[in-house]
Amino acid sequence: MDIGYTATDLRAAAVDAVRAPSLHNTQPWRFRLRDGGIEVLADPDRRLPATDPSGWGVRMACGAALFNLRTALAVAGRPASVRLRPDPAEPDLLARLLPDVQRRPSPAEQSLYAAIPRRFSNRMPFWPDPVPADARWRLGEAARAEQCWLELMIGVSAVAALGEIARSAHRVLERDPAYRSERERWLRQESAPDGVPASAGGPRSEPQDVLPTRGFGGRDRAPGRDFEPEPLVAVLGSVGNTAVDQVVAGQALQRVLLTATDAGLAASLLSQPIEVPSARQQLRLSLGRFGTPQMVLRIGHGQPGRPTPRRTVDDVLDLPVPRP
Ligand SMILES: Cc1cc2nc3c(=O)[nH]c(=O)nc-3n(C[C@H](O)[C@H](O)[C@H](O)COP(=O)(O)O)c2cc1C
Repeated sequence: MDIGYTATDLRAAAVDAVRAPSLHNTQPWRFRLRDGGIEVLADPDRRLPATDPSGWGVRMACGAALFNLRTALAVAGRPASVRLRPDPAEPDLLARLLPDVQRRPSPAEQSLYAAIPRRFSNRMPFWPDPVPADARWRLGEAARAEQCWLELMIGVSAVAALGEIARSAHRVLERDPAYRSERERWLRQESAPDGVPASAGGPRSEPQDVLPTRGFGGRDRAPGRDFEPEPLVAVLGSVGNTAVDQVVAGQALQRVLLTATDAGLAASLLSQPIEVPSARQQLRLSLGRFGTPQMVLRIGHGQPGRPTPRRTVDDVLDLPVPRP
């Protein structure tokens, strides 16, 4: 085995890890250096009790951060072998990374790595140009490479059926005042290191919209017009739905998002039909697939936008205190 990871390895890779998506940009992760290993931990203080009572969203976000961490380490010539949830006595410890045999980073790792700082949730309407067949294939491959599946909704009726499930989940969530006030608390009108900037919130939703938007910010738009012609809508799913499966799904989510970015595509996420258990079950049955839906994605050709803020790396690192 190689020598252990150092604080320098962790600090450099954490800059990329924190670029991962998270529910309401809560950034619910910590990174710890222990005995030459890098550990990824869920930060329970940053879970959203009303929106994410089970901690699914925290594990998805930490899985996405883990994918960035793995990729950054591989590209730095310090590839990792990963164990998920290595210690049952510490359920918040989601992954431990140890240095693996040295090798050159693959071209795929290099292009995914280059996409990390360019990826962001694009909630603006997409252009009508269809997502090319080779990009669709690459997106599916990205999910499969991380032991997950990506089901593309082909045709107006498949998208409409999913939209119906998503809208009804959205209505259920909107009836809960605690859910609404959580969203308001994480919506930022002024610059902040976390939360969703109002400028990133996308346009206000309209009753005729096929897909429900989460309701951040809500820029005005012409009433009565369709949001966009027909985006590519996809459902990402995992084999099971244990805590480990959710961390696996988070890694797959990030690989799919970075693959989309690398292909010049934009994406946004829609998790209302995952957060409401009856909607998730309906979605699972409507897809007729084994396994569990973990995220709905909207993918297409986007207008320019920019990445959202993050806390500094020092806010999320636990490094051993140097001996005097
Ligand atoms: C588990 C999870 C669920 C999410 N659900 C939604 C959603 O329903 N609607 C939405 O607009 N964004 C959703 N997002 C995206 C986050 O709001 C976004 O990642 C965060 O604000 C950071 O912004 P960025 O993606 O531009 O870096 C979700 C992200 C994660 C990881």
